[in-house]
Amino acid sequence: MANTILVGAQWGDEGKGKIIDVLTEQADVVVRTQGGNNAGHTVHIGGQKYVLHLVPSGILRSKKTCVIGNGVVVDPVSLVQEIEGLRKLKIKVDGNLFLSETAHLVLPYHRELDAQREILKGKNKIGTTKRGIGPAYGDKAARTGLRVVDLVNPERFKKQLEFKIKENNEILKAFGAKPLSFKKVHNTYRAAGDYLKPFVINTVVWLHEAVRRGDDILFEGAQGTFLDIDYGTYPFVTSSNTTAGGACTGSGIPPHRMDRVVGVMKAYTTRVGEGPLPTENAEIADMLHAMGREFGATTGRPRRCGWFDAVATRHATMVNGIDELAVTNIDGLDTLETIKVCIAYRDGSKRYDYIPSDIELLSRCQPVYAEFPGWRTETHKARKWKDLPPKARAYLKAIAELTGADLAIASIGPGREQTIFI
Ligand code: GDP
Ligand code: IMO
Ligand code: MG
Repeated sequence: MANTILVGAQWGDEGKGKIIDVLTEQADVVVRTQGGNNAGHTVHIGGQKYVLHLVPSGILRSKKTCVIGNGVVVDPVSLVQEIEGLRKLKIKVDGNLFLSETAHLVLPYHRELDAQREILKGKNKIGTTKRGIGPAYGDKAARTGLRVVDLVNPERFKKQLEFKIKENNEILKAFGAKPLSFKKVHNTYRAAGDYLKPFVINTVVWLHEAVRRGDDILFEGAQGTFLDIDYGTYPFVTSSNTTAGGACTGSGIPPHRMDRVVGVMKAYTTRVGEGPLPTENAEIADMLHAMGREFGATTGRPRRCGWFDAVATRHATMVNGIDELAVTNIDGLDTLETIKVCIAYRDGSKRYDYIPSDIELLSRCQPVYAEFPGWRTETHKARKWKDLPPKARAYLKAIAELTGADLAIASIGPGREQTIFI
């Protein structure tokens, strides 16, 4: 399979978890390289639903090795809970999961600051997952963060945490929020440190050994292209590079060792949280929500929904270098008579075929649509390309062509078996 970077080509929740689980069959190692437990990756196997937040979705195949790389921000308590949850479901998490010693920690003051900043922003809030992601990456960039290597070094951790709690309590007081108890936080996080210690290694060296052995590595992106801190709809973004480059900086594997980039996109568009979504449409949102679909895997919030936006996905192909596409949730469109696809934006007389960087301009942009006839047939039982209705095939070919990459996978249901290789 070679080394593959998998990214979300939209605003997150494209179905990356499902596609990772499918592709893991061919891989040896699966690595998360950015984000934290703001991610929620869903995998359905034989009637059981798993939602992964920090642990790579490859963990559901017991013979593969999973790595949480240096670019991830890790809430140790949340990671312990996730591992415990997997073990309860009889998933093997022993010798097949490694955690980078240089991954930064998310601590309770990050979560509290995340919440307080959102409250202060009022109607201009980002709509974060309140998992402390922004403040944790903020500390990393400011060079004031604590890392996994500190957590598993009790003396050092105590000193550093004491200082950080003192400093952040001053800030929390200024927000009018309750200060944190050093003792409580220290006890809880030290316990998590002891639990996680056996997983902690130098993942950069380990991954390079895997490359030398000729292992096939799958890099599991979290969030999506338009939540990227550089290429997304700033400031309505997350705090990491969710695009392909993040896989290199977040793992230590250099660009020339990467063989292909797979972009995952839904057959329509969703977004959770605030910020522009040019093709947003209430009818399609109501339809999907009525089907019990499109509720956030991490926060349970209803996702905003809209038509497929080919301006966005074409831009995603450009910044990620997407070679192949996996299109998911095709079955979500099964009942529609007509399906719209955004092929350009218009602001007054000006037309755009890329995403404008100025968020105010983007918010003003109106989509220019092309229309496709719906197939009005259930697709969830299709297993081969030719099982799909001709109109569905035509739609998929068109959105792949507009996106500018090869259509490789079509997904027509959440299950492993509901996957068509093209
Ligand atoms: P991720 O964050 O990109 O991994 O995506 P999420 O797991 O947050 O959201 C994707 C949702 O779509 C999950 O509930 C998946 O089980 C579901 N899903 C993925 N592919 C398909 C598909 O082809 N059809 C249907 N019906 N559901 C899908
Ligand atoms: P996966 O990996 C969808 C969104 C939040 C908010 C913005 C910033 O499951 O695709 P943050 O908590 O990161 O500071 O929030 O980013 N967001 C996601 N949206 N899927 C995700 O992850 C997301 N992770 C963050 O809703 O708009
Ligand atoms: Mg998700």
